[in-house]
Amino acid sequence: MGRLECRFCEKDFAYDPFSPFCPDCREPLLVPSPEKPRAFHPDKALSLDRFREFLPLPEIDPALSLGEGSTPLLALDRLSAKLGLPALFAKNETMNPTLSFKDRGTAVAVQNARRMGFKRIGTVSTGNMAASTAAYGARAGLETIVLLKEGTPEENILMAGIHRPRLIVVEGDYGRLFRESLRLGRKHGILFMNSIDPFRIEGYKLTGFEIFLQTGGRIPDYLFLPLSSGGHLVGLLKSFIELKQLGFADRIPVVVGVQAEGCAPLARAFAAGAPRFSPFENPGTIAHAISNPHPPAGNLVLKMMKEQGGLITAVSDREMLEAQGLLASEGLFCQPDSATTLAALVNLTRSKVVPRDAAAVLVVTGSGLKNLKVLEGSPLPRLRVTLAGLEDALEGRTTDA
Ligand SMILES: Cc1ncc(COP(=O)(O)O)c(C=O)c1O
Ligand SMILES: [Zn+2]
Repeated sequence: MGRLECRFCEKDFAYDPFSPFCPDCREPLLVPSPEKPRAFHPDKALSLDRFREFLPLPEIDPALSLGEGSTPLLALDRLSAKLGLPALFAKNETMNPTLSFKDRGTAVAVQNARRMGFKRIGTVSTGNMAASTAAYGARAGLETIVLLKEGTPEENILMAGIHRPRLIVVEGDYGRLFRESLRLGRKHGILFMNSIDPFRIEGYKLTGFEIFLQTGGRIPDYLFLPLSSGGHLVGLLKSFIELKQLGFADRIPVVVGVQAEGCAPLARAFAAGAPRFSPFENPGTIAHAISNPHPPAGNLVLKMMKEQGGLITAVSDREMLEAQGLLASEGLFCQPDSATTLAALVNLTRSKVVPRDAAAVLVVTGSGLKNLKVLEGSPLPRLRVTLAGLEDALEGRTTDA
């Protein structure tokens, strides 16, 4: 791997596996975009192979893959009719091996770790990255260390734990834990593939390339995704920028990053027109997976969204739970963090920011199985009947719960 570039000072630096940040600006470094036209290989089985010419990997070891990517793009016809939009799609990332989009990034980061000869990898996680890194670490036969934030839903801990990583729940400030993991990683030779690892971000590009192929090359007008550390958004935006730069597409979608109102440092900075965010004090939301008060790619997201004409907004816990129910009515079960995308679309069509003739894609990032607790607040009506009463119940003649 050659050099990485900083979008702030516009210098480039040799790749340092122990720090994803520019030594001068302390902002995230990115893999430079390819300059020559590249080709897709749509006939290949693995998503990594199909888009290998866009990845910073000299070769792909298929044995390290768990079959990530190649997720469906589902038309949500009833919801689009309800919102009065001509077309609405969900890119269903819950179909990934550990039920979230993180697998795309982990798959590329683990290819890099193995190629560089690392024996130990790690991650700092609010949940989904723990399960993903533990699974891919096990697959690659690497010792895996997972540092968890307090309050991580139990489902996530169990899902990671089954692969037997070293699980460490760390008290205290998440932003400081992120930096401390990198410092200790350097000292002990552990490759921490955190949320903005440059290889992880390259893996997220594949979602954009898949959407491009699945729509037959029609770039959607709007692309909604939940926003936390910023790694996913930077990766997706990068894919569309590369498609345009290389002449595959003539425009990029308006990317809409959605935060939870209870932890919205980037939506707040965006609304104020500020080029930099300030950390969000006293965060509180049911959307644990996207609750990062100090997003490491926050300033980069603000910069890229300004350059590319994107939007950042926030939705309430109530709105995301309602949207979770709406997506379920189309057969999709996602975590509330991911339903923020539909909640934001509902709000933005209502306020006419998104026009009624727009085609939109929602990136549905993680499965509802990741956080079952949030559903306990709305008990399901269910009938209890004897066998003799079953027929009446089937015909709706029993109302007693
Ligand atoms: C389900 C889900 N959606 C979205 C995100 C946001 O991704 P990022 O932190 O790269 O902005 C996360 C991050 O953990 C997540 O778990
Ligand atoms: Zn810099």
